[in-house]
Amino acid sequence: MKLLSVVGARPNFMKIAPFIRAISDYNQSANQKIEHILVHTGQHYDQNMSEAFFQELGIPRPDVNLGVGSGSHAEQVGITMIELEKVFRKEKPDWVIVLGDVNATLAASVTAKKEHIKCAHIEAGLRSGDIKMPEEVNRLVTDRLSDLLFTPDRLSNENLKSEGVLDEKIKFVGNIMIDTLEAKRKKAAEHSIEQIIKSNSIHRPSPNAQHPTPISYALMTMHRPSNVDDPDILSAIIDFLCDDVAAKMPLIWPIHPRTEARLKEFALWDKLTDNQNIIVLHPLGYLDMLRLNMDAGIMLTDSGGLQEECTVLGTPCITLRWNTERPVTLQEHGGASVLVGNDVSTARKEFRRMIQEKRKPAIPELWDGKTAGRILKEILSF
Ligand code: UD1
Repeated sequence: MKLLSVVGARPNFMKIAPFIRAISDYNQSANQKIEHILVHTGQHYDQNMSEAFFQELGIPRPDVNLGVGSGSHAEQVGITMIELEKVFRKEKPDWVIVLGDVNATLAASVTAKKEHIKCAHIEAGLRSGDIKMPEEVNRLVTDRLSDLLFTPDRLSNENLKSEGVLDEKIKFVGNIMIDTLEAKRKKAAEHSIEQIIKSNSIHRPSPNAQHPTPISYALMTMHRPSNVDDPDILSAIIDFLCDDVAAKMPLIWPIHPRTEARLKEFALWDKLTDNQNIIVLHPLGYLDMLRLNMDAGIMLTDSGGLQEECTVLGTPCITLRWNTERPVTLQEHGGASVLVGNDVSTARKEFRRMIQEKRKPAIPELWDGKTAGRILKEILSF
């Protein structure tokens, strides 16, 4: 059997690593080996947005890199489809495997089906209900086209069923990203917080600034267009970070390239970096980010993956979004996260409440570190 997986952006990398490991485990004992081709679309291309994850997570070098780079959505998806069509025609895989909801996921599922190749979607069935999110468009199209839909939780099964997806296509397997978390937890714990800050600082606060010690710092990530592309929204969030969060505790912020560019464009960069209690870092590798999350007093984020990791680690998480495609991570479902949108007064209120909270790790059903093996088994027995 020949499988071809397509990845493109940072959140794909922690999902493909366990799947590739499951294939190599299988091949060690199987008579008929699985051939696996890995294609990187090149949507993320900075060393610390891409290559660093391949090294840390032991992902083999991609067999093909399409080098699509940055651009509008139509450009990224269009170029990826043109290039993938050539690869699929040459390689003729039995299955194309797509992950998550990035532009590579959409481009690969559409191209696979146009080439009459079976497509499996890992992390299927998530719905935010917000069609203005580019990822929601990617999810809807990919799930409509895929032959096997691997869901991380039962709510996702219900979403798919309510859209008329046949039962036999839906396989509840758990969350593959948690396979990576469980595999790397011990290794991450060995990383030193001081060293992470020292090696990744863009802006270092003065020596008199408080140093983060376990359970006394806030951790932040933010990159969604809805938060960073509007100067008024971004400016209000920066005020909240400076006046409320950094006034209470050190704030560590590994910054996405898009966000850094917008902060500079809207003349907000100096306000952020002048604050002695805010530590701005380059985007971090997987292990460093996991290490910081393990001891953070609170997370502020608009990332879906971090909401999930906070649930498993128990880090109280303020989610800077109005909706989530991952309701299982919300406090009302037993998770660690609350939604505050970009309403700064709600964020302020929740921040005051949540810094009092104790860590409450929760493990949703089948988030057990064994999802990749279940996925491979289903593909083989299809
Ligand atoms: C993409 C995904 C999003 C995911 C995020 C994680 C889609 C639709 N979006 O959004 O779901 O949460 O990745 O990071 O696929 N840039 C660099 N270097 C890089 C990559 C990007 O400088 O290696 C800059 C470029 O200026 C680019 C901007 O960041 O224009 C945004 O990158 P892009 O790949 O378009 O989308 P993300 O916002 O990263």
